Amino acid sequence: MEPAVSSAGAIERMDPGHAAYLLGGAGDEITLRANQQAWQDLRLWPRTLHSLAGSHARIDLHGRTWPTPLLVAPMAHQMLAHPHGEQGTALAAASQGVGLVLSCQASQPLESVAGAVRADAQRGPLWFQLYLQPRPEDTLTLVRRAEAAGFEALVLTIDAPVQGVRDRELRTGFSLPPHLSAVNLAPPPAEPLDALLARAPTHDDIAWLRRHTRLPLLLKGVLHPADAAAAVALGIDGLIVSNHGGRTLDTTVATAHALPAVVRAVAGAVPVLVDGGIRRGTDVIKALALGASAVLVGRPVLAGLAEDGAMGVARVLRRLRDEFVAAQALCGCRSPAEAAGLDLLRPD
Ligand code: FNR
Ligand code: LAC
Repeated sequence: MEPAVSSAGAIERMDPGHAAYLLGGAGDEITLRANQQAWQDLRLWPRTLHSLAGSHARIDLHGRTWPTPLLVAPMAHQMLAHPHGEQGTALAAASQGVGLVLSCQASQPLESVAGAVRADAQRGPLWFQLYLQPRPEDTLTLVRRAEAAGFEALVLTIDAPVQGVRDRELRTGFSLPPHLSAVNLAPPPAEPLDALLARAPTHDDIAWLRRHTRLPLLLKGVLHPADAAAAVALGIDGLIVSNHGGRTLDTTVATAHALPAVVRAVAGAVPVLVDGGIRRGTDVIKALALGASAVLVGRPVLAGLAEDGAMGVARVLRRLRDEFVAAQALCGCRSPAEAAGLDLLRPD
């Protein structure tokens, strides 16, 4: 069998439009490919002769300890991949001690997804991803529902004020099947593009949201160190270096290349996470070596979900976690937090 983490087998056998939505990227998919390539091109410089006694994969984030440095990235419409949908992904992630970021465009109610895993003592973080909604009151309704359902942090995605131009989807004429919708959202008002652009998140919006919730607030979609520094000054609690998996603006910098400058700009003030192209345990240890506190994984989870529902996701995540634990040990590193201080990447 193909390695579960890199195979997209079942999705490739699906309706071409659905496959294009689940796996595709913007434009010529240059960033989609570059993300994976950038992790692969980094060369590990492992350490030896260190004691590995007491090794573990745990991390601390926002005052709590979690079993692994892995989270499932927020991804919309997961019932398109399999009827188990987001709930299947949530159960599988919890079973592997992996965190979950639920997309606000989920195909199942946020309360039922959180309810399925909230009480599990072995699970990872349970976070909710937000897009600013056309009406501020709809954004606040989502925030209150996420708080009440037990989500432990909010992740505001800031890199997709408009949808990217996704050629693969356009070629296949993708549209959501009629039985699927973003069930947690109020129906959007029909708006022209300039109205949409007027709502692209600004510093004022971040400050407004910060005032309206006690939950930790992370921003997802930061690539530039100047934006990272500004976000920290606004009082956010974490950053996710991301280019949306190459689905928004094509030819952006790969996330492995953007991460070091963001980590420098943030200077330890808040945790920095990263996603995009993470497929192997070696990619995870490289991200930690560059200063990330944790990583998010996207499409491989959808590949597992499409293959075999919750069981397929559990297999993908177990394999990634096991690969990471092995890579960490083979680098002579005892814990995720130690990785950044061991000089584990060969300088070019
Ligand atoms: C996404 N992504 C995404 N991000 C977000 O903030 N909200 C969302 O609703 C979605 N929806 C979504 C759907 C699908 C089908 C994919 C593939 C991706 C982006 C996602 O969170 C993440 O940034 C990337 O997928 C990470 O890259 P990899 O691991 O897929 O290469
Ligand atoms: C996407 C949107 C939902 O990437 O974020 O499909």
